[in-house]
Amino acid sequence: MSTDVKLLFFAGSAREGSFNKRLARLGADIANANGIESTFVDLSDYPMPIYHGDLEVESGPPDNAKAFKELMQQHDGIFITCPEYNSSVTPLLKNTLDWVSRVRDETEAPLHVYKSRVFAIGGSSPGGFGAMRSLIDLRKILQLGLGAHVLPEQIAVPRAANAFDDNGHLEDKSLQELYKSVIQHLAYTAQALRR
Ligand SMILES: Cc1cc2nc3c(=O)[nH]c(=O)nc-3n(C[C@H](O)[C@H](O)[C@H](O)COP(=O)(O)O)c2cc1C
Repeated sequence: MSTDVKLLFFAGSAREGSFNKRLARLGADIANANGIESTFVDLSDYPMPIYHGDLEVESGPPDNAKAFKELMQQHDGIFITCPEYNSSVTPLLKNTLDWVSRVRDETEAPLHVYKSRVFAIGGSSPGGFGAMRSLIDLRKILQLGLGAHVLPEQIAVPRAANAFDDNGHLEDKSLQELYKSVIQHLAYTAQALRR
């Protein structure tokens, strides 16, 4: 695929052994191997306090929220992989999305960083549903809350403990092919909608 768009992959888990970080890393590797320039970023490198309105009034969004928004702006498409915590997204991911939504630039419309790029979502969990229920909430947050364009296709990787081989690839080759096709669609759509 010939494209000059850049994709960003990150997971809604900071855990060292996170399955969703593995999935996000794999996504960036698949993209790069297929000629789509991609970056994996670990939210561990962007710690932020839990959102608090008084804190925002006192000191504004944390520097890491500004830095993460800047990183998002440097990419045309964003792939988020998220675990399922009690049928929803992780507090880490929600907090990150919330803080970034509060970083405002006088010269741009609210939520511009979300509205001006394309997102794709995926998830993995040790159970049989592959974080499917968190993806329902994540889609709602991105689309209804933040005004983002989210691809209809998504990837859910169940039974995570046995889902990855020693090279970090998915054992289920049809799932790996599905992942590749979602990534290619993300790049294609980001290219088509680039503003
Ligand atoms: C607070 C909490 C709630 C969880 N709720 C769910 C759940 O609703 N469904 C599920 O499949 N797994 C659930 N899990 C298990 C996670 O899927 C599992 O810890 C997973 O490995 C987390 O993703 P990670 O490996 O990317 O960190 C929960 C874990 C925690 C800590």
